[in-house]
Amino acid sequence: MIITIDGPAGSGKSTAAKALARRLGLRFLDTGAMYRAITLRALKLGLDLASEPALARCAAQADLHLDYEEGNLKVRLDGQDVTDDIRRPEVTDQSHFIAAAPGVRAVLVRLQRQIAQELGGVVSEGRDQGSVVFPDADVKFYLVAQPQERARRRYEELRAAGQEVRYEDILEAITTRDRRDRQRAVGPLVKPAGAIEVDNTHLAPQETAALMAAQIEMMQATSYSNPHLRGWRLPPSVAPTPHLYRFFRRLFQVVFAAVWQTRIFNRRYEPTTGPVVYICNHQSFLDPILMSMALRRPMNYMARDTLFRVPGFGRLIWALNAFPVHRGTADTGALKEALRRVQAGGQVVVFAEGTRTRDGRIGSLLPGVALLARRARAITVPVVVDGAFECWPRWQPLPLPGHIVVQYGRPILAEEAGQMSADEFVARVRGDLIALQAALRRRLGRPPLEYGNSADREEN
Ligand code: DC
Repeated sequence: MIITIDGPAGSGKSTAAKALARRLGLRFLDTGAMYRAITLRALKLGLDLASEPALARCAAQADLHLDYEEGNLKVRLDGQDVTDDIRRPEVTDQSHFIAAAPGVRAVLVRLQRQIAQELGGVVSEGRDQGSVVFPDADVKFYLVAQPQERARRRYEELRAAGQEVRYEDILEAITTRDRRDRQRAVGPLVKPAGAIEVDNTHLAPQETAALMAAQIEMMQATSYSNPHLRGWRLPPSVAPTPHLYRFFRRLFQVVFAAVWQTRIFNRRYEPTTGPVVYICNHQSFLDPILMSMALRRPMNYMARDTLFRVPGFGRLIWALNAFPVHRGTADTGALKEALRRVQAGGQVVVFAEGTRTRDGRIGSLLPGVALLARRARAITVPVVVDGAFECWPRWQPLPLPGHIVVQYGRPILAEEAGQMSADEFVARVRGDLIALQAALRRRLGRPPLEYGNSADREEN
């Protein structure tokens, strides 16, 4: 996982990066420290700071290492600990020459990517992290605060360290640094595309970090799995894995097309944004895979909690957005988790019968689905799978080849759902599913399934 935090000097990036990294179990990367280290090296060597080639050479030849000691960053340059030296005022003043040198930036950008790769993820802060270095970062932040407030923070800091400074001088220095950061030709400070802007002028550092952590949690819930859910026992080292999700989806598309000639009908009913609850009939273990193929946006779905205890497999489905449900009880925890993921703007697929069909027909639906759809104020889309039961009925150990199709039904809008009672909603959705199934089977020339009268239906 890569999280970037960009912003002007004194916007609290370092503090936020540290706090977030601690929360997420990641390392943080202070890229300003790297520019400072090269500045220090150039000053020590007495280089002409206006000579771009000399600075580029200085960066390329530097032996620069970032170490972490008890969560604190240690900067080692050419074998020496320069953690404190790089904070000296002359380094701060002269660093803009180094930051503006394209050759230096190329070296440091490469090093930053290498560090992130070696660490398997970072919270990286600087000026160009979301725009240049990690344009595909999982979550990007752009931290800002009014210059007066940033100057005030710096002033307090220096006074506390016993230095005699004037607020006006600091404000002026900050304004100058802002201008230089923004106007540089390479790697200038910009708000990266897709970044979440956080103005922390009136926030305490811990409030900033909490706000950012909440954003990350929400974005993970909206898109891919969230390894930091309360109440679940998998180790937090399981990372959200969008690539894995896409990889498996692609793989299944190929396999299912070959083995089951799978087709998806009425995909236009899939909402392209916002919270959605898909209520699907349950024919076989293939259904969750069919739904992941059918939906263009990643789906969240419940899986039996015992599956999460299967070594390897548990981690895999977790990384692929499943969350546990305890069968045979009204699992309010699972319902809450579903609600949370939907409310965060995600898509949740529910196999609302709670168990696989015994005869191909659609059984009664669990009342929890009404609660979920109505509480989340989500669009509900009924979806029917057909043919999976014939290929893999519950008594058969392995699936056989055949022909499986999926068809979406007309969405039920949140306002519509809100006007029905829970019972009416469940009856409506089940009615839609049965009608969809009948239409689908007609379309494929399959014999209709008999449902008899409504009393008979309730027994299923
Ligand atoms: O954040 P800081 O004050 O430690 O940054 C030191 C210098 O490095 C400052 O001149 C801005 C520059 N810098 C940069 O150009 N790109 C980054 N990613 C980080 C810092």
